[in-house]
Amino acid sequence: MACVLAIETSCDETAVAVVRDRTCLSNIVASQIAVHRQYGGVVPEVASRSHVETINEAIAQSLIEAQLDWQAIDGVAATCAPGLVGSLLVGLTAAKTLAVVKQKPFLGVHHLEGHIYASYLIEPELQPPFLCLLVSGGHTSLIYVKNCGIYEIIGATRDDAAGEAFDKVARLLKLSYPGGPVIDRLAKDGNPQAYPLPEGKVSVPSGGYHPYDSSFSGLKTAVLRLVQTLEQDSVELPVKDIAASFQETVARSLTKRAVTCALDYGLNTIAVGGGVAANSGLRQQLQAAAAKHNLRVLFPPLKYCTDNAAMIGCAAADHLNRGHTSPLTLGVQSRLPITDVMQLYTYDCRLKSEK
Ligand code: KG4
Ligand code: ZN
Repeated sequence: MACVLAIETSCDETAVAVVRDRTCLSNIVASQIAVHRQYGGVVPEVASRSHVETINEAIAQSLIEAQLDWQAIDGVAATCAPGLVGSLLVGLTAAKTLAVVKQKPFLGVHHLEGHIYASYLIEPELQPPFLCLLVSGGHTSLIYVKNCGIYEIIGATRDDAAGEAFDKVARLLKLSYPGGPVIDRLAKDGNPQAYPLPEGKVSVPSGGYHPYDSSFSGLKTAVLRLVQTLEQDSVELPVKDIAASFQETVARSLTKRAVTCALDYGLNTIAVGGGVAANSGLRQQLQAAAAKHNLRVLFPPLKYCTDNAAMIGCAAADHLNRGHTSPLTLGVQSRLPITDVMQLYTYDCRLKSEK
């Protein structure tokens, strides 16, 4: 059993959690959304400064909420990639410093592996292999989860990520940042059939379309044209109908690819992760399609879908139980494929748990 203090600062949430194996003992998130909203998106330098201001308090708070002191902590972890370099550095430096001062093993964690591990927090008995549909502000991927640290990317986006598409379309509709939750809320009162929009397919050289890859830039452009046409006609923008039509198209596209992929690869569980997993349209469509095909879908609650440190701690605890730790020379990386996760670790047999 490994108890880990984990830090997540890859983007605009300063998050610290204490996790024992797959049980979350505390989950502190200091959101910077209000700060970045005035700029319409995340400003990297502002994000780094905010992390510096809040990180110490968040660390202290995580131990208070978990009702533990440092004696009970077996390792200190932080997201090291991918993400904003300045932001990642704040969390990683804090984690390394604590590991040295408190004489604990240190672990760097891949942000996307963290999003996969959010599902273990709600289903501790979950075992690989399973399929993860990872839909966040920066990623849209279908990942074959083979084991801790062992992943294969089966499908990806060719352009915008799903969350990015939500954020960009929200900006077109003059809605606030981040766009996903606002579009989701407005879509509830709109007609999803009001405007047929292109789903966005990726063609393959041999003809036909890639069954698992997605593309959202054409959909975004279609919404832009629709908005321009309606504005030319001086019609008051039917924001709710546009939001509902857009959301329905994204949800249909993601659902189709995830279900096809799970069936083709013989995987009976789809774990959904990333901020867009909070989307109610995606939840409804994917759950309905999965039920038809006898597939199980795991949707973590909102607090584990959007960026948080509990998912990072859960991944770190699994690595630590296997004797994996990271060298203190580990740096941050703005990009790192999830297939390279094991590069972050060395093996220490003394740390391997007996269970
Ligand atoms: O995973 P996340 O918190 O950060 C990244 O690692 O990117 O995801 C943030 C993204 C944003 O693009 C946001 O608009 C989107 O998740 N999002 C949503 C919803 N809640 C957050 N998208 C659609 N519907 C939602 N309810
Ligand atoms: Zn994320």
